[in-house]
Amino acid sequence: MGGGAREHTIVWKLAQSPKAEEIYVAPGNAGTAQIARNLSIKAEDIGGLLKAVQEKGIELVVVGPEAPLAAGMVDRFQKLGIPIFGSTRAATEIESSKVFAKDLMQKYGIPCARSASFSDYAEATEYLQQQAPPIVVKADGLAAGKGVIVADSMAQAQQALDDIMQSRIFGAAGDKAIIEEHLSGVEMSAFAFSDGHTVIPMVPACDYKPAFDGNQGPNTGGMGSYSPPHFYNPSLAETVMNTIMVPTIKAMAQENRPYRGVLYGGLMLTSAGVKVLEFNARFGDPECQVTLPRLKTDLVDVIMAIINGKLSQLNVEWSEDACVGVVMASGGYPGTYETGFPITGLNELEQDITVFHAGTKVGSKPGEVLTSGGRVLTVTAMGKNLTEAREKVYANLPRINFKDCHYRKDIALIKEG
Ligand code: AMP
Ligand code: GLY
Repeated sequence: MGGGAREHTIVWKLAQSPKAEEIYVAPGNAGTAQIARNLSIKAEDIGGLLKAVQEKGIELVVVGPEAPLAAGMVDRFQKLGIPIFGSTRAATEIESSKVFAKDLMQKYGIPCARSASFSDYAEATEYLQQQAPPIVVKADGLAAGKGVIVADSMAQAQQALDDIMQSRIFGAAGDKAIIEEHLSGVEMSAFAFSDGHTVIPMVPACDYKPAFDGNQGPNTGGMGSYSPPHFYNPSLAETVMNTIMVPTIKAMAQENRPYRGVLYGGLMLTSAGVKVLEFNARFGDPECQVTLPRLKTDLVDVIMAIINGKLSQLNVEWSEDACVGVVMASGGYPGTYETGFPITGLNELEQDITVFHAGTKVGSKPGEVLTSGGRVLTVTAMGKNLTEAREKVYANLPRINFKDCHYRKDIALIKEG
């Protein structure tokens, strides 16, 4: 379920399994149409999805994005005995309520930024006035990645609080707000599979949110990613598992919200240790596009072990190779942009380039692919190391074209020192 490059990657990986006879994607895109059958059913249409599952005899449902998880899709399907991969509504609160996530972390001693939560605007304002910039203001609920404001001045922080709690630009997501200490350091996205008890780490990745080179410009859904992070090492891996992933899965079990699925920790490596910025209840996008290609184990086996509570019996293996993914976006994204432009060059790429589609649709001419969204493609390659993977991607990117396309030139470009 879903239609982005993350979902194309999941479908591509599932399609490699001998256990996947036929794959349907709702709604999918032009990329998934090449390897699976698209169904024009929206993610919100749980009734329509249920009907399709029953009619087509679908034996396993995999959910990509957070909205259907937060809406309780997994709970509905589980009640009907349909195997589904994703977290329940109660478990998804780790992403859909930042206040819940902060309370959980504080209660169980999981390292995170100091913060206070408010449902009352006047109290929030009073607290904010006692703080000093830089300071971070967050809406409690889902806000399509826009609900976090890192404010450099008190005026900006107050404006953010007003937008969230008074003007309610994120709607009910702004019923509560968080005011949080600003952390500095290096960011990393960590992931783990869990069946509620056993926790198995995935390989981590770095995400590039700003639109332009050198981390300039507005924030986007993500302009590129690479795995593993160049600073990643066994000791960091152990810290992340022992202080964050395992305690969080245990805490969720203790809270009667057993967590089954992928747990995504957005982490900051600060001078005072690794801290959680946020949790998500799903694969990252674009991180999925550079981590799943490194998975050697059959994804169907991983998912079934999670659903059946048998993850402890599975050996999950990862490739040592690095993977780099660069997002090609429509001109103007993340602001306004035009769509409907033909994409050329997709068949002129080197063998080891894999392109995952996001905002694309099948055109009316044979083989034609048109743009249909802001983030259009993630172009990826694996390599013996980051440099090799990066060079392959950037050697092939100029072969792909559509009107006004843009992409960052500095994904996985590691500046030493
Ligand atoms: P989140 O959606 O909570 O991951 O926040 C989005 C982005 O805001 C993160 O990737 C960070 O770059 C930034 N951010 C969030 N919380 C903090 C914080 N406490 N200190 C500094 N930056 C933060
Ligand atoms: N890469 C950010 C996210 O998936 O939320």
